[in-house]
Amino acid sequence: AKTQQHEFVIQATPVKRLCKTHKSITVNGQYPGPTLEVNNGDTMIVKVTNKARYNVTIHWHGIRQMRTGWADGPEFVTQCPIRPGGSYTYRFTIQGQEGTLWWHAHSSWLRATVYGALIIRPKEGDSYPFTKPKRETPILLGEWWDANPIDVVREATRTGGAPNVSDAYTINGQPGDLYNCSNQDTYIVPIDSGETNLLRVINAALNQPLFFTVANHKLTVVGADASYTKPFTTSVLMLGPGQTTDVLINGDQPPARYYLAALAYASAPNAPFDNTTTTAILEYKSAPCAAKNCSASKPVMPPLPAFNDTATVTAFSKSFRSPRKVEVPTQIDENLFFTIGLGLNKCPKNFGSSRCQGPNGTRFTASMNNESFVLPSNISILQAYQQGIPGVFTSDFPANPPLKFDYTGNVSRSLWQPVPGTKGYKLKFGSRVQVVLQDTSIFTPENHPIHLHGYDFYIIAEGFGNFNPNTDTAKFNLVDPPLRNTVAVPVNGWAVIRFVADNPGAWLLHCHLDVHINWGLAMVFLVDNGVGELQSIESPPTDLPLC
Ligand code: C2O
Repeated sequence: AKTQQHEFVIQATPVKRLCKTHKSITVNGQYPGPTLEVNNGDTMIVKVTNKARYNVTIHWHGIRQMRTGWADGPEFVTQCPIRPGGSYTYRFTIQGQEGTLWWHAHSSWLRATVYGALIIRPKEGDSYPFTKPKRETPILLGEWWDANPIDVVREATRTGGAPNVSDAYTINGQPGDLYNCSNQDTYIVPIDSGETNLLRVINAALNQPLFFTVANHKLTVVGADASYTKPFTTSVLMLGPGQTTDVLINGDQPPARYYLAALAYASAPNAPFDNTTTTAILEYKSAPCAAKNCSASKPVMPPLPAFNDTATVTAFSKSFRSPRKVEVPTQIDENLFFTIGLGLNKCPKNFGSSRCQGPNGTRFTASMNNESFVLPSNISILQAYQQGIPGVFTSDFPANPPLKFDYTGNVSRSLWQPVPGTKGYKLKFGSRVQVVLQDTSIFTPENHPIHLHGYDFYIIAEGFGNFNPNTDTAKFNLVDPPLRNTVAVPVNGWAVIRFVADNPGAWLLHCHLDVHINWGLAMVFLVDNGVGELQSIESPPTDLPLC
């Protein structure tokens, strides 16, 4: 295994999209940011220098960070942000993970432009559990705003309303030729007859689950969230923000040009969404498009799923299996049940009505178990936990919702108002944990991509309606469930995950729709170091940014 050193300079860079140029926050002037390519077992040392005017942190999404919680990155959870002019060096080792992950800013909405792929190949000398593809192409799906994304979220926070939806989706930073002024820069994915290309698809969009499909070509899924899967074939993928999916695509069609397309899976009825389609082009090398006559050979367009095609999403997510029998904890020490959903808080009396632009003059919120998560502002939770500093968080996050109700039915208005707070839930080192994640229909049901830091978990079941502990346990797959770090919890439904709490630290569990983090859809697991408290985990690095 080797040690890799990288430098990330966060800086404002002019980026031209959709006919306009804006200063965007980038890493090393690149949008999307640099692709990191590593081998399982490698150690990464990434020095991040902040030359922008915003606070920033970088999160290595899906990296387990075994006993290296100080390198995880979410601001005010494992570190204070890197201030303008400051720097911080992240150090961590890849242990046992192979496939596709990514990195992104974990401060405000900076990840709109501060993100990139993190590709983990097998240990040197090891091979893929499938025939080595001739080519590999990362496919980063993103969202682009004409406005500064930080202003978009600030405005939403100020008014209490929903933020503006994006102006384009992107593939590797490019909207593609269905958008204005985007023809020239449409991303080209190479292939040739008889070749295989491994597409490493990442949903880096801020607020939108996305479908992904390729004209005339089958996609063979071989991995997700840096774990291999039992291969299966599909024509459409759905990725919630945060999720990755590795697919093999064969050059088995007549040499020509075919669209790759991504578009919204908009599961929330009536909520506004960006209904545009982003494209890249799968181009056979033997049929290149000469620059002049490109428009003469329009690529083949695939049939697109309807924006609300939940049946396709369900069939896709139920196809995931681990490649072989895995060790799922069969006994459970912690049996947790978390509701996930939106809420609407009353407008405070002294606010002008323009500042409460949620439905009926309310402010949007979101919660787990009716707790709306608030980040600390002058120290990180991990520092407070490690040093035993009181008053930063409490550890009374409820194991169950405060009330049982019909989660997916007509929910009484009195249950629409979550309570703000900074609450964690303590897990004993080594405990075997089950969490039922239950969508609620408060304001609207929705497919929520729930991401856990510091862990991969098995998704042992999912379904619609209210989870029933008496009958739904019969659906549990304890043999070969998929191992992931982000679960797309079905709209109007539930998912059950299991993991062993073997990584000490403070680990965020949150919805990866960024606006839902702003509204409080998060909590923290506090995992001790095996002797009851965290005080004896490694001290923080000396350059850890202070608040
Ligand atoms: Cu990719 Cu806390 O997020």
